[in-house]
Amino acid sequence: MLLTTIGSVLLLLFSCSTFTSIEAYDPLDPNGNITLKWDVISWTPDGYVAVVTMYNFQQYRHIQEPGWTLGWTWAKKEVIWNMMGSQTTEQGDCSKFKAGIPHCCKKDPTVVDLLPGTPYNQQIANCCKGGVLNSWAQDPNNAVSSFQISVGSAGTTNKTVKLPRNFTLKAPGPGYTCGPAKIVRPTQFITNDKRRVTQALMTWNITCTYSQFLAQKTPTCCVSLSSFYNDTIVDCPTCTCGCQNKTQPDSCVNPDSPHLSSVVSSSGKPTNTPLVQCTSHMCPIRVHWHVKLNYKEYWRIKITITNFNYRMNYSQWNLVVQHPNFDNLTQLFSFKYKSLTPYEGLNDTGMLWGVKFYNDFLSSAASYGNVQSEILFRKDKSTFTFDKGWAFPRRIYFNGDNCVMPPPDAYPWSPNATSKLVFSILSTIIATLASFIILLLN
Ligand SMILES: *[C@@H]1O[C@H](CO)[C@@H](O)[C@H](O)[C@H]1NC(C)=O
Ligand SMILES: *[C@@H]1O[C@H](CO)[C@@H](O)[C@H](O)[C@H]1NC(C)=O
Ligand SMILES: *[C@@H]1O[C@H](CO)[C@@H](O)[C@H](O)[C@H]1NC(C)=O
Ligand SMILES: *[C@@H]1O[C@H](CO)[C@@H](O)[C@H](O)[C@H]1NC(C)=O
Ligand SMILES: *[C@@H]1O[C@H](CO)[C@@H](O)[C@H](O)[C@H]1NC(C)=O
Ligand SMILES: *[C@@H]1O[C@H](CO)[C@@H](O)[C@H](O)[C@H]1NC(C)=O
Ligand SMILES: *[C@@H]1O[C@H](CO)[C@@H](O)[C@H](O)[C@H]1NC(C)=O
Ligand SMILES: *[C@@H]1O[C@H](CO)[C@@H](O)[C@H](O)[C@H]1NC(C)=O
Ligand SMILES: *[C@@H]1O[C@H](CO)[C@@H](O)[C@H](O)[C@H]1NC(C)=O
Repeated sequence: MLLTTIGSVLLLLFSCSTFTSIEAYDPLDPNGNITLKWDVISWTPDGYVAVVTMYNFQQYRHIQEPGWTLGWTWAKKEVIWNMMGSQTTEQGDCSKFKAGIPHCCKKDPTVVDLLPGTPYNQQIANCCKGGVLNSWAQDPNNAVSSFQISVGSAGTTNKTVKLPRNFTLKAPGPGYTCGPAKIVRPTQFITNDKRRVTQALMTWNITCTYSQFLAQKTPTCCVSLSSFYNDTIVDCPTCTCGCQNKTQPDSCVNPDSPHLSSVVSSSGKPTNTPLVQCTSHMCPIRVHWHVKLNYKEYWRIKITITNFNYRMNYSQWNLVVQHPNFDNLTQLFSFKYKSLTPYEGLNDTGMLWGVKFYNDFLSSAASYGNVQSEILFRKDKSTFTFDKGWAFPRRIYFNGDNCVMPPPDAYPWSPNATSKLVFSILSTIIATLASFIILLLN
């Protein structure tokens, strides 16, 4: 008992310190980034026309409504004469222009995508999706966004153009960090009939990467577990995403509160500040993993995702699951699946998402938002076991953000695995101690 307590305390310490040290690097998507490419397609008397294309190369992180916001700082006194497929949010001070007023005169313009339904004469290819950018694994055809920009008071040759600086990408909250613009080999364009190749006059790239810690200081998602072989439901760790504060009653909402609808509708805060239902974990999202049935050749699990956030509908949500045996998923009911292989030889990770128009929309807590599916796995007799939490996932991400798992010693045990319990707790403590010491040394 004492050992368990020490173990849990250390685990808690350990999980807190690992969380705060999360960096941009994501082991399940090591190359994930959003790349912006500026292709200068013509020179004008006082500047250039460029097509700016945003590629979401992230496997499972997308940008949902209300969409991306892109900003930068001009290097000189550039202005934007006009734009197609997007617009700046502010025009700024164009008072020194007499004939012809620019679209934007700000030193640091902020650009947003146009909405669907924009007149054709203001569109270009891949524009006008309200800033929604799908992920590369889920929908590569919609993981690209473009606009055209006509820049004045700028250089008019590839020697005199000054690259814009200090790019910022918001989704629409924080999380992304963009590197400097780098001149790269000019993009080549192949005509539709593939008989001619043209090229940009000049091209530069900017790479932006995501860090969960920059986006949100606290976790946003947790995992609970249960199984047919043990009655215990292992709930999300208490206070995973915050604690209920009795002295501050509006820190969360009770679903049976009589003035619920007025609290939800009067909350004018931006959507990236969640308004959650009161729970012990206070997370906006809970993923429940239930080991449901054990057949001779197969075993079956049920996944339920519950939205506790009153301020957010999740469209095109996705789940990344790392789990032994995930390479032998046999049948999936009402979710889509794609295997992810971030490295050669790592094949236990898969991505799940909803079926379009059926359950790809996880509505807010106001309408009891939840989605569920069952998965059938084929047993690999040489590795299959219900011991040691084997039937549970190692790691789960919701929309690219890491979900906090219960500590390993709390996993439901199968009755005939108790002899291994003590050993496992001991090894957990030793591993935790070791990591803790390593952390202290760093
Ligand atoms: C961005 O992602 C692409 C596609 O995965 C990759 O080829 C490229 O190397 C990445 N760029 C950086 C700077 O990581
Ligand atoms: C600019 O153009 C010249 C010739 O047109 C080319 O040799 C040079 O590499 C270009 N420089 C850049 C930075 O693209
Ligand atoms: C870019 O940002 C850095 C750091 O925030 C700042 O020092 C620098 O002056 C900025 N550059 C421009 C051109 O605004
Ligand atoms: C620049 O970005 C484009 C589009 O993502 C990519 O195809 C190209 O390889 C990038 N160039 C470099 C040098 O990273
Ligand atoms: C609860 O809220 C009050 C007022 O905002 C704050 O002073 C106090 O520290 C909070 N307590 C906890 C446990 O978060
Ligand atoms: C969620 O979607 C529903 C139905 O489309 C809509 O009525 C509601 O206003 C949305 N809630 C939020 C917080 O966006
Ligand atoms: C997956 O299942 C197939 C069919 O039963 C089997 O042949 C294969 O060996 C299994 N692969 C692994 C890695 O278990
Ligand atoms: C998955 O990886 C394991 C270990 O690297 C390997 O034994 C197994 O054959 C792989 N499965 C498939 C389907 O490639
Ligand atoms: C069920 O799992 C819990 C750990 O979560 C364990 O304490 C309990 O002994 C298990 N029950 C049985 C019947 O094995």
